Amino acid sequence: MNLETIILAAGKGTRMKSNLPKVLHKVGGKPMLQHVIDAAKNAGSSREVVVIGAGAELVAETIKDVVFVLQAEQLGTAHAVLSAKDNFAKSEGTVLILCGDTPLLSGELLKKFTAAHEGSNCVATVLTAEMPDATGYGRVIRETDGTFKKIVEEKDATDFEKKIREVNAGVYCFDVKKLFEALGKVTNDNAQGEYYLPDTLTILKNAGEKIGVFTAYYADETLGINSREQLAAADRVFHMKKNHELMDAGVTIVDPNTTFIDVDVKVGKDTVIKPNTYLEGNTTIGEECVIGPDIRFVNMKVGNKVSAQFSYCHEAEICDGVTLGPYVHIRPGTTIGTDVKIGNFVEVKNSKIGKGSKLPHLQYIGDTNMGENVNVGCGTVTCNYDGKNKHRTKIGDNVFIGCNTNLVAPVNVGDGAYIGAGSTITKDVPKNNLAIARARQTNIEVWKDKRKQ
Ligand code: UD1
Ligand code: CA
Repeated sequence: MNLETIILAAGKGTRMKSNLPKVLHKVGGKPMLQHVIDAAKNAGSSREVVVIGAGAELVAETIKDVVFVLQAEQLGTAHAVLSAKDNFAKSEGTVLILCGDTPLLSGELLKKFTAAHEGSNCVATVLTAEMPDATGYGRVIRETDGTFKKIVEEKDATDFEKKIREVNAGVYCFDVKKLFEALGKVTNDNAQGEYYLPDTLTILKNAGEKIGVFTAYYADETLGINSREQLAAADRVFHMKKNHELMDAGVTIVDPNTTFIDVDVKVGKDTVIKPNTYLEGNTTIGEECVIGPDIRFVNMKVGNKVSAQFSYCHEAEICDGVTLGPYVHIRPGTTIGTDVKIGNFVEVKNSKIGKGSKLPHLQYIGDTNMGENVNVGCGTVTCNYDGKNKHRTKIGDNVFIGCNTNLVAPVNVGDGAYIGAGSTITKDVPKNNLAIARARQTNIEVWKDKRKQ
């Protein structure tokens, strides 16, 4: 079966009160629309036609590998589907319709749903769910024999209908030809003056066609996001699901309530994640690490047996056996080599730190290539910026840098060199040399303060 999908994502999302188009709001670290597209692809969809309108440019810039169609004016979900008509002129069989604001849908559920539709003789099937709180959703009205009757939107519903907890999930399978025939007949005669997609189901039913209803087992998966509160709820579901997946795979999560791991993050087994930890973007963590408390890693590659606490690291790599923190900032373009120790109040930017080196406290290391087993004294600063350009500092292996050293780049320090504490190094230090670059101390004997006399 060749499955094609229409995803509705043109709405402004008025209830979000946001400058950002609703479908670009992130849950689990990914735009809602991307989750929906991924679910469609996982269900075997071969082409996704995404209807955009509000913030269309930004949506088209952010989302890849789909076909976009523009719904210039947002006149309702039926009108949105109609905008995609030209793209389906040659299509036959089933089309799957999804909304861009239901990010929790899984590919698995969509697979079951489409299979159920394909296996039936219905021209359309709607996905429904029993919601503990159905407020805001279209309610599913069934005939006395349990078959589909109609869907009533919240704003058009009677008090009795509002009590119904079975809701329209906004997910449908249609026979593509019948769908576009029925869409032509939808009117906007309702409380919102909009063209409602669910009305096509009633139109087809009244024409004598069979309409299927498929109820999702986990109602959570069909949550529609219309408000910031629902956004937070969906985000929570994602993070909890991710935590459970990782725990199942052998990761210890000390407090799942305060652990926020984005959907695409990978964590190796026997790693322990401590509270208040944020692992974001495409971060990868190896095995047997201890991460947290209070860690934020964004797009990080982290090896095995790394221990990190109270720190922020982004777009960088940390190799096996590194100890990091507290209060470390690792910035983009950095590689921290194997078994390196980075202690408190250290910032490293766009640098390579060689195996076994130690940066125990209060350093700024920027645009630097540092060799192996370097000992960096407290308060060392690479002076990498001359006000116009950035320059590199090169430090060989087994170098000892005394406390409070300034390395004025560009500058090279050879293997095995020593730098005396308090030096401001402006010239290269050859291999194995001792460099001292500070004013000599003068002691004045029997010093009397003349002012006091
Ligand atoms: C819709 C359904 C409702 C269902 C709910 C499930 C209709 C009329 N109602 O309501 O029965 O319970 O979803 O979450 O379909 N959109 C467009 N163009 C438009 C209008 C909307 O592309 O002109 C898109 C939106 O961007 C959104 C989706 O369609 O992704 C649903 O629209 P929304 O306004 O959120 O509909 P609901 O009121 O949630
Ligand atoms: Ca919605």
